[in-house]
Amino acid sequence: MDTILVTGALGQIGSELVPTLRTRYEDVEVVASDIEPDPDVPGPYEAVDVTDRAQVEAVIEKYDVDTVFHLAALLSAAGEQNPDRAFNVNVGGLHNVLEVGREYELDRIVIPSSIAVYGPATPDNPSERTIRSPTTMYGITKVLAENLGAYYHEKYDLDVRGIRLPGIVSHKTRPNGGTTDYAVDAFYEAVWEGEYTYFVREDTRLPMVYMSDAIDALIALAEADESDLQYQCEYNISALSFTAKELSERIEERINEFDARYDPDERQSIADSWPSTLDDTAARSDWGWSAEYDLDKMVDEMVHNLRQRTEGALS
Ligand SMILES: NC(=O)c1ccc[n+]([C@@H]2O[C@H](COP(=O)([O-])OP(=O)(O)OC[C@H]3O[C@@H](n4cnc5c(N)ncnc54)[C@H](O)[C@@H]3O)[C@@H](O)[C@H]2O)c1
Repeated sequence: MDTILVTGALGQIGSELVPTLRTRYEDVEVVASDIEPDPDVPGPYEAVDVTDRAQVEAVIEKYDVDTVFHLAALLSAAGEQNPDRAFNVNVGGLHNVLEVGREYELDRIVIPSSIAVYGPATPDNPSERTIRSPTTMYGITKVLAENLGAYYHEKYDLDVRGIRLPGIVSHKTRPNGGTTDYAVDAFYEAVWEGEYTYFVREDTRLPMVYMSDAIDALIALAEADESDLQYQCEYNISALSFTAKELSERIEERINEFDARYDPDERQSIADSWPSTLDDTAARSDWGWSAEYDLDKMVDEMVHNLRQRTEGALS
């Protein structure tokens, strides 16, 4: 690995993955890219719209990229608002990366998939081969992405791998456009306002993971020996599974007078279509996955960091 390209690098995951990669691989050039032309970010950055194959090719050629973390996507709620664009970015963009990857014989392409590949027909605690039956455009694009990854691996021997990520909880970049955003928004609003209205019911239980565990998982999978992998882009990881009410109770234990309300909107039906727990046996056995953060450790860290940031802003 000499040069890594991260697409969608300004998003929730990319803004933490890029600095982690730069610290971990001191001799590797890590090029951040996103659709925005001129962001205020450190290190090499290129504006790349992944739906434009020429732009993808230009950046890979310019930096002699050998590894791609392909994060550019529209997430579930954003995808339901603009299904056409979600298809173009999530499927067309990935297709461009895979085609350029094949042409330039890249060593490795890592693409996060999502629990959104599952659907109402999926039984709870699914494993990698359990039926995928998405009812959202986002989920449909992620099924296609997983299948494209497997196809390019089988047909062109391109090393494509990925994880079906659950909802990600983080304090550095606030998420936008996802169905699990409430699990981050609740912390911000609790610390800043002392109240939060969830857009899901209090009994909504979804699988989640703390950001540092998600980043560790992506890197561990990227570094795994190909001969140890039984799947391409389908690996489940399991870390946390809590209801909105359980999250509120844990936040209340640390922030007095947190007023949580529940007013479900159209995102409830997306949440209801996803499993609440996942079977991650394969990730544990193939590349040594295990989560460091349980619910209490995650809540402690979120509250601590957001309080520190608020105090910093006030002083
Ligand atoms: N955050 C989560 O909870 C979560 C859960 C499961 C899977 N994932 C997957 O992880 C990946 C990254 O997710 P994220 O949470 O960082 O998403 P995000 O929405 O925070 O970031 C996505 C980034 O992609 C960029 N983008 C959109 N269209 C683009 C285009 N045409 N060209 C280039 N960039 C474009 C956006 O500007 C944004 O910065 C996605 O594939 C997503 O499906 C995320």
